[in-house]
Amino acid sequence: MNINTPAYVIEEKLLEKNLKVLDRVQKEADAKILVALKGYATWSTFDLLEKYLSGATASGLWEAKLANMKPWEVHTYCPAFKDSEIDEVADISHTVVFNSFNQLERFENRVKDKSLIGLRVNPGVSSSPVPLYDPCAPFSRLGIPKVNFKADKLKNVSGLHFHALCEQLDDALERTLEGFEKLYGEYLKDMEWVNFGGGHHITREGYDVEHLIEMIKAFRSRYPNIKDVYLEPGEAVGLNAGYLVAEVLDIIDNGMKIAILDTSAEAHMPDVLAMPYRPVVRGAGEPNEKKYTYRLGGVTCLAGDVIGDYSFDKPLEIGDKVIFEDMAIYTMVKNTAFNGIKLPDIIIKRKDGSIYKAREFHYEDFKNRLS
Ligand SMILES: Cc1ncc(COP(=O)(O)O)c(C=O)c1O
Repeated sequence: MNINTPAYVIEEKLLEKNLKVLDRVQKEADAKILVALKGYATWSTFDLLEKYLSGATASGLWEAKLANMKPWEVHTYCPAFKDSEIDEVADISHTVVFNSFNQLERFENRVKDKSLIGLRVNPGVSSSPVPLYDPCAPFSRLGIPKVNFKADKLKNVSGLHFHALCEQLDDALERTLEGFEKLYGEYLKDMEWVNFGGGHHITREGYDVEHLIEMIKAFRSRYPNIKDVYLEPGEAVGLNAGYLVAEVLDIIDNGMKIAILDTSAEAHMPDVLAMPYRPVVRGAGEPNEKKYTYRLGGVTCLAGDVIGDYSFDKPLEIGDKVIFEDMAIYTMVKNTAFNGIKLPDIIIKRKDGSIYKAREFHYEDFKNRLS
């Protein structure tokens, strides 16, 4: 593929493979799946997403507006809505989820005739691998803890929402659901819908989709009054459906061989440093597994802007392409132009094999974010 670098490439064929798995869950479990735009918001592919998913879930007004590009369900949850934005959020949302009884009491009358109202509750079951991604950690601000739950204030509330997982398999949902029902099961008899949040790695190899379907069915049979069961994964939608292509700009030897690329962990794949994790590089192995080992580094000034150490069968050369796998999720939505480096192009490989450059970024994009 002859493309300018850096570039994120999303392959529709791979995306559709994920969407088909998610659609199976929708159909067999009678559930609705929403794409979490915080994780995957590449709207050039919304036509494809729309064929399979029931809607999109937004983190606030701007994502809700993006979700509203399609006539699907728009669900909006925010840790705290602003007075100046809540009316527009309610106008375009099918469902608005509040994070506290303060927010519910402040805004419910402005929302109730336009959208369904939900509350995010905290199921109190920690299972995320690191505290940064654990909404059930002590003193968490995300989700109402049971001690603060006010059963007499639910007049306008039609559903409960929880989100406590991060890149997890079905067993983690089982534990979380158990905790959720123990704390909030008694209120579900008066609800019409429940949202199991995101963090379900449904499209990852090893995820027991059958078990997920069984769990949702069993939940439905325990609460026959619940009309809609929602899941809102971001990662599972775009998992392994895209990659980041970069080019080797220089090779130096400061005690070990270092390749400097026209990309950056900090700016273009921030979760590499935040999680942190070591992305898979196409054709490369662990350090010293293959003959030629290099540290792959970014082009910014940050000393820690290092993606990792990798080995290759052949020596790297200036101009070579390096491909980082699984870069469709939490990249385009989180990247920055730190150091004024160019944001990667967004390229879609269509199902028929054709290449479509959906977006190219220019100096003006960088300048216009500043003043
Ligand atoms: C409330 C909520 N819903 C959904 C998601 C999507 O999670 P994931 O992309 O891990 O599936 C998140 C992620 O942080 C979230 O906070």
